[in-house]
Amino acid sequence: MKTRLSVNVNKIATLRNSRGQNTPNLLKVVEDIESFGSDGITIHPRPDQRHIRFSDALDLSKIVKSELNVEGNPIDSFMELVLKINPTQVTLVPDGVNNITSNSGWDTIKHSDFLHKKIQILKSSGIRTSIFVNPDPKMIKGAYEIGADRIELYTYHYAHYFNIDKDKAISEYYRSAKEANKLGIGINAGHDLNISNIAFFKERISNLLEVSIGHALITESLYEGFENVILKYKEILQ
Ligand code: PXP
Repeated sequence: MKTRLSVNVNKIATLRNSRGQNTPNLLKVVEDIESFGSDGITIHPRPDQRHIRFSDALDLSKIVKSELNVEGNPIDSFMELVLKINPTQVTLVPDGVNNITSNSGWDTIKHSDFLHKKIQILKSSGIRTSIFVNPDPKMIKGAYEIGADRIELYTYHYAHYFNIDKDKAISEYYRSAKEANKLGIGINAGHDLNISNIAFFKERISNLLEVSIGHALITESLYEGFENVILKYKEILQ
């Protein structure tokens, strides 16, 4: 079964914002990424808009031809945004305002009422819903019971332990995926996946529908490009 690749473009916006102008041009980059074969585009607008701005989300919703996945904590401003742009998928993430990046999944039992309400609103607009969770079968069951279409497995711990003991690193994910497949809830995954650790994850997690990858994919793309670009400069400068 094919797993879809959704490219998280937050880092492109971070790079652009660091110079206060429009290079790299996020919309052009997204068009190119799609033309290179990406199956989707992921954005994670944070309340302080430090990388993806709300205006980027509006612009991208008009040009993305594949699937747009918008991630975030469903506070009022986020809900207002996603209901306006109507992406293919919304992934609910319990990120705090000051988090550098997402660092945990939802407790889908403790927050079931809150999440259930948000899921109902999104679903009534025809938006596919996914809930970011740690690899814990209880949390998967909780996500299923509140009506989410999918879970997104938080893969930081898998990626972290992969180089130490990959069988141990995958074990909780394997158990969680088994529970998800038994319940019939879809499986996405993301965080710290990269070219080295993704093959084993895909091999062991059956019915992995989608991965969203940002940090490593952008870093790896820089490295794949350095030699080519340096040679071009050298040729011009000789
Ligand atoms: N999924 C969620 C919920 C995230 O917050 C992030 C990072 O923004 C990712 C996936 C992608 O993680 P990475 O940038 O490490 O590939």
